[in-house]
Amino acid sequence: MAGDDAVRLWGGRFAGSPDAAFQALNNSLPVDRRMWRHDIAGSRAHARMLTTGGIIPEADGQAIAAGLDAIEAEMAAGAFAFVESDEDIHTAVERRLTELAGDAGRRLHTGRSRNDQVATDVLLYLAEAAEAHAAAVGELATVMLDAADAHVETLLPGYTHLQRAQPVRLAHHLGAYVWMLVRDRDRLRAARTAALAHCPLGSGALSGVGFPIDRDATARELGFAAAGPNSLDGVAGRDALADYLHAAATLGVHLSRLGEELVVWSSDEFGFVHLSDAFTSGSSMLPQKKNPDAAELARAKVSRLVADYAGLQGVVAGLPLAYNKDLQEDKHFLFDAIDTLDLLLPAVTGMLREARFDADAMSAAAEGGFLAATDLADHLVRLGWPFRRAHEAVGALVRACVDAGHGLDASTSAQREAAGLAGVDLPPLTAAAGVEAKLSAGGTGRRHVVAQLAAARAALGS
Ligand code: ARG
Repeated sequence: MAGDDAVRLWGGRFAGSPDAAFQALNNSLPVDRRMWRHDIAGSRAHARMLTTGGIIPEADGQAIAAGLDAIEAEMAAGAFAFVESDEDIHTAVERRLTELAGDAGRRLHTGRSRNDQVATDVLLYLAEAAEAHAAAVGELATVMLDAADAHVETLLPGYTHLQRAQPVRLAHHLGAYVWMLVRDRDRLRAARTAALAHCPLGSGALSGVGFPIDRDATARELGFAAAGPNSLDGVAGRDALADYLHAAATLGVHLSRLGEELVVWSSDEFGFVHLSDAFTSGSSMLPQKKNPDAAELARAKVSRLVADYAGLQGVVAGLPLAYNKDLQEDKHFLFDAIDTLDLLLPAVTGMLREARFDADAMSAAAEGGFLAATDLADHLVRLGWPFRRAHEAVGALVRACVDAGHGLDASTSAQREAAGLAGVDLPPLTAAAGVEAKLSAGGTGRRHVVAQLAAARAALGS
């Protein structure tokens, strides 16, 4: 990489060169070079608009367009030669354009600042990532929904406080994640819409530009809904990034909960799920181990996603209007979250697609204990008991069964009599009876679960 102060974009004002330590701190190229396609797209739109509006000569517009095509080809081929003075991707593209197109290249930055340029690039980059991630989350939700469809009749204990509470259908349990993921997908879509609402290009450095530019034309060409109405907001606002990072962090929380559940469920203690060899790893020392690494990493990655959200907000908070170099740090957080989801979503989707749920282990856990305690109390209520009295009597019977070391379904008439339940005919206390006793919409009764899955299918359009 050759140093050349002559090509430094802002060299005119400076008699001396930057210190190496400052340059190392100040250069954002290692982070922002990945935005080259978006930067070139922004420059194309800007140059076309300048030409159409007669702000730069037609011939220069053509030379710029040809130069940008060449730069794009170099970038795509990995053949673009960066030089030491390339402070960021915007500088690199303009420097190369000037090498290729001479003074035409030097006209590209007419009526433009890197402040509106970078704000535009980052929104375009974010919109693309949000769209891809929304689709990936939709796919994960569909895989989850397919598993739910296959397990309407599979029963397992539902838990509160990780204590067995009441039987549920596995379809219902998986359905809970489907709905979280549907909302995650919608949040990512909304983040994309927010990113593309207002195009910053044409805001200039902060106050607008002194040429009759057509902001609607560039906004439209780049896929924005409109030109941003306030140039200060255009260069200083970063809340569309926050929207994406918030959506990513919340998705991360959901994937973390799913990851934890798969770790616990795949343990020998539970045995509710068997994870595929393709998404687990062995131990270097313990020959018997098959570790649920993908699930554990899904559990852990949330930490980065939440930190990325907090990091972005921390950089922007307290900044005076308009652009400050602090804002260069925004991309660190944004790209970290994007990269994290790029890694995580396919792995979680694959892990789930290949997971085998163990209906027998689930059913064994759902029968014979105390999951039917509420159903017994509800039965008494239907016989006319006040619920609180029923609750107390069943609680006493549960205590007697616990002391005797058996489940509620094995209670003796002596135990029932002692609990104040003499003469009460017990209803069926199976898991199947328990789930079908749930009559309310949104509950685990078959009719409502089937309706729920159909609604989820419609929401996913899959
Ligand atoms: N690399 C800078 C960023 O990412 C581009 C904008 C520079 N603007 C400036 N006034 N120095 O924010």
